Amino acid sequence: MLNFNYDIPTKVFFGKGQISVLAEQIKHYGSKVLLVYGGGSIKKYGIYDIVTSILKENNIPYWELGGVDSNPRITSVRAGIKICRENSIDFILPVGGGSAIDCAKAIAIGFYSDSDPWYLITKQAESKNALPIGTVLTLAATGSEMNMNAVISNLDTIQKFVVFHPLIKPKFSILDPTYTFTVPAYHTAAGVADIMSHTLECYFGHVKDAYLVDKIAEAILLTCIKYGPVVVSEPENYEARANILWASSLALNGLLKYGKETGWCVHPMEHELSAYYDISHGAGLAVLTPNWMNYVLNDHTVDQISQYGINVWGLPAQEDKYSTANQAIALTREFFISIGLPTTLTEMGIPEEKLAVMAKSAVNGGTISSFRPLNAQDVLNIYLNSL
Ligand code: NZQ
Ligand code: ZN
Repeated sequence: MLNFNYDIPTKVFFGKGQISVLAEQIKHYGSKVLLVYGGGSIKKYGIYDIVTSILKENNIPYWELGGVDSNPRITSVRAGIKICRENSIDFILPVGGGSAIDCAKAIAIGFYSDSDPWYLITKQAESKNALPIGTVLTLAATGSEMNMNAVISNLDTIQKFVVFHPLIKPKFSILDPTYTFTVPAYHTAAGVADIMSHTLECYFGHVKDAYLVDKIAEAILLTCIKYGPVVVSEPENYEARANILWASSLALNGLLKYGKETGWCVHPMEHELSAYYDISHGAGLAVLTPNWMNYVLNDHTVDQISQYGINVWGLPAQEDKYSTANQAIALTREFFISIGLPTTLTEMGIPEEKLAVMAKSAVNGGTISSFRPLNAQDVLNIYLNSL
């Protein structure tokens, strides 16, 4: 196991009714709030009313940035920074899924900078300060509620970039599973695929003696396989929603990387798809993940992929490890189909036309992944296999 520094500072308030801590928590960090939300789901399903009532009852002044798109845009980030500066706002409260939270994080880090926020994001520029953030999560998927990442799209340049910065880890996150009851089946399933992808990208790697962390990863995968179909077919099943919600946070709060050497691979490939075609991130991952596993299967990776088949899918240990690994990959693909996700790019309306350009952009002149490094040609091959 490699050395690591544990640093997951977000306070989590998990469970039904935990919104009751909201005002008290905000008051620890700020006094004037920017409320950030998406295209209207929080208004439709009552969460907006709950949150704004709490702010009013507690005399906490707030401003609003609504209409944040899925795959949030740099234009929303710029608008949010402007509101914060004009009104001396000192706390940001995203209420929604990963898109609202990521937009809030980019506003938080852009607030103190003289540079345009797109420059900060693309250059991973040093930032010495950020506004504090607290989140009210409404969709289980990205783990943004506990991590240091924000993913922002720029429609002018057709790019989607991730900014990583410790200062944008949320101070607190409120995770009420009942707030996720209304997530439509497709976004629910895409969220499950995202959680599984975060877990698999950390699970597969060269460090083989991080047993405990790998067992945690397997537990998250087993949770997705057990409860994923339930959250899709029974959206108000509390037990299922609660388990998937906590899985989403644990899969990408840093825990699965401790003691390991991890790298991202399917994610940069998918970010190109959603940059060019504005698709749901999790659905793109569902298409790419089995094709990626199939592509990287070789004598160096077969042990781990077959181990995944045995420990996660309950396959019997066989002498022919390739057979077990191939069955595990097939089961992964069938699982995504069973919860209503696409398994080809064609189904998502993505043609071959721009795949070569996207492949180059995904590797950014180098290679991606720590499991088996992939260059632009490898990525293109995976895209083509996914058509
Ligand atoms: O916009 P509204 O109206 O709120 O509707 C949203 C949106 O249409 C809807 N929704 C959310 N909560 C709901 C709900 N509908 C009904 N009831 C609710 N309770 O669901 C749709 C998707 O929401 P969005 O926030 O876009 O989804 P998600 O959480 O999957 O976030 C996706 C974004 O996060 C990035 C993705 O690339 C994408 O841009 N990621 C962020 C990461 C991070 N910060 O660590 C890591 C991920 O790998 C990912 O890249
Ligand atoms: Zn993801």
